[in-house]
Amino acid sequence: MDRKGRVMHSDEIADLESTVDDASLRRSEKLSDELKAKIRDDASPFRMLTGDRPTGRLHLGHYFGSLKNRVELQQAGVDTWLVIADYQVITDRDAVGEIRDRVYGLVTDYLAIGIDPAKAVIFPHSQIPALNELVLPFLSIVTDSELRRNPTVKAELDASGNRPMSGLLLSYPVHQAADILFCKANVVPVGKDQLPHLEQARVIAQRFDKRYGRPKGLDRPIFPRPMGLLSEAPAVLGLDGQKMSKSRGNTIELGMTADETAKLLKRAVTDSERHITFEPERRPEVSNLVQLTALATDRDPYDVADDIGAGGAGVLKNTATEAINEMLSPMRARREEVENDPTIVEHVLRDGIKRANAQAEQTLQEVHEALDMVYLP
Ligand code: TRP
Repeated sequence: MDRKGRVMHSDEIADLESTVDDASLRRSEKLSDELKAKIRDDASPFRMLTGDRPTGRLHLGHYFGSLKNRVELQQAGVDTWLVIADYQVITDRDAVGEIRDRVYGLVTDYLAIGIDPAKAVIFPHSQIPALNELVLPFLSIVTDSELRRNPTVKAELDASGNRPMSGLLLSYPVHQAADILFCKANVVPVGKDQLPHLEQARVIAQRFDKRYGRPKGLDRPIFPRPMGLLSEAPAVLGLDGQKMSKSRGNTIELGMTADETAKLLKRAVTDSERHITFEPERRPEVSNLVQLTALATDRDPYDVADDIGAGGAGVLKNTATEAINEMLSPMRARREEVENDPTIVEHVLRDGIKRANAQAEQTLQEVHEALDMVYLP
């Protein structure tokens, strides 16, 4: 548990422990780059699935780290599926909290950043029975020792204080494999802390085919092996120079007003050197404000720092505030529309749940056929 006695989320765990070794990270990066090139070439064969736990509002760290990338993939023509991982909330805590508000808030965030509900399928996995049922046959092809070895499961267990390992925490990579495989996604945009889970999903896809085979007439495996797409964006820090995370209270949430954003940035930590430079190692706080400005305006951080130079921290904060508020402004306008009409989110969920259920039932039928568990004509 962290200092506030709260358990941490996986996005906060990545900095506790490097979950993948360097060599396999480099391999994943190379594969991810090749995949990006293929998507740029022709996006039509690709379906992405990724998602979030509904544990709080999304912030700029999420936006630059993964959300922006999802919108770009969607715009490039990649079929977009977003899972709201509500069952994952109880892997590391006793209660789901204000889950309904969180789910509605998450969908609102998605729509505000530009996810197009006419194209994307957005669904909480608790509402998709056939997706969850895939966990049973999948559990038959994983061993408890490979689950215990999963570095992200280990890191989450460590981060949850003295809790015993629950069956759900131990098996959550299998459940996450079901999230990915039920819709036969072949692209999974993830942070590097999620790579062990993606590898587990790839192993399950392949083992299922080897062990149980295919329904009659299907000439390829039921499940394609999903590929990871790693985010290119540099990690963004919070306004205190520490990692940006909900539990540290140092975030700029996407749902904040322009005034709230300005106030927070005014209080951001800087240092005592007057001249503004971009030196992330030596001057993390100042460089982070430069980086945020650069990301928000699509500029090079060194140019941003040069332009401010002798202007000092005051000019830096004003420039950052302006840049971030300008980037967020169209998102705020969309958010307002969505918040003014609660039936919008309801429709998006209803439609997403319907489409996800249809897909999951079809996949489960194929699984039953492969297993010979079809008893009635
Ligand atoms: N475990 C992910 C997280 O905590 C969320 C998630 C659930 C996910 N299912 C997924 C991510 C499937 C990618 C693919 O951030």
